Amino acid sequence: MIATTPVIVFSSCTDACRHVAAEISQLIRERETLGLPTVLGLATGGTPIPLYQELIRLHREEGLSFRNVTTFNLDEYLGLDRDHPESYWSFMHRNLFDHVDILPSNVHLPSGIVSPSEIPAHCQAYEDAIASAGGIDFQILGIGRTGHIGFNEPGTPADARTQKIHLDPITRQDAAPSFGGLDKVPTEAITMGCGTILDARRIALLAWGDKKASIVKAALEGPITNEVSASFLRNHPNATFILDAEAASSLSQ
Ligand code: PGA
Repeated sequence: MIATTPVIVFSSCTDACRHVAAEISQLIRERETLGLPTVLGLATGGTPIPLYQELIRLHREEGLSFRNVTTFNLDEYLGLDRDHPESYWSFMHRNLFDHVDILPSNVHLPSGIVSPSEIPAHCQAYEDAIASAGGIDFQILGIGRTGHIGFNEPGTPADARTQKIHLDPITRQDAAPSFGGLDKVPTEAITMGCGTILDARRIALLAWGDKKASIVKAALEGPITNEVSASFLRNHPNATFILDAEAASSLSQ
């Protein structure tokens, strides 16, 4: 099936994030009314920060509660303790969890310090935890300049599950400034696979700025290929690309 993937272009990432946060908020509130929890798949990086700021605002000013929300993050660097400032555990607490009423027991990220022999079991346990939470209702994604979603670098198959991966040199280069040098950036990570991500019932891929324009075009208008894992989203029945004008600037329509 190759359906046309919806693309919504906003004049700013702030407007885009208001739109996405409103959809998430409505989902959480509707499910709460039915007595159901909401399972969110969350992303790190610069892209979702304005979304998390808007969710925090909705919590503080409009009574949005996260008590019935369970979260699963896409990935974590291998070799980083939770307390490392660049761990995604730290990122998520700094940018979202410390500012809302989510229960700590409902927060899930892969571990960055699992020993090599325990990695397969750890990845399987992550898959099992997502399944026993009922699957992901709403998955947030960014896109790397390699086309990765999560850390599914070029070459990762569409049906991959949570696993250890080697980070692409471009991904490590993009992370170098926040780590204070390329040599400090981990070389491996644990990531949900493309198959794990594509199991989510609703997916929003966010991209801002002209640095993302060419990879957004490749994902939406190039071949569906494991060279650009975001292109797999075109096979998902309920995925939307949410872009600002710069990220959309290379698209032909
Ligand atoms: P960014 O990263 O949000 O920092 O641009 C996106 C990604 O690598 O998925």
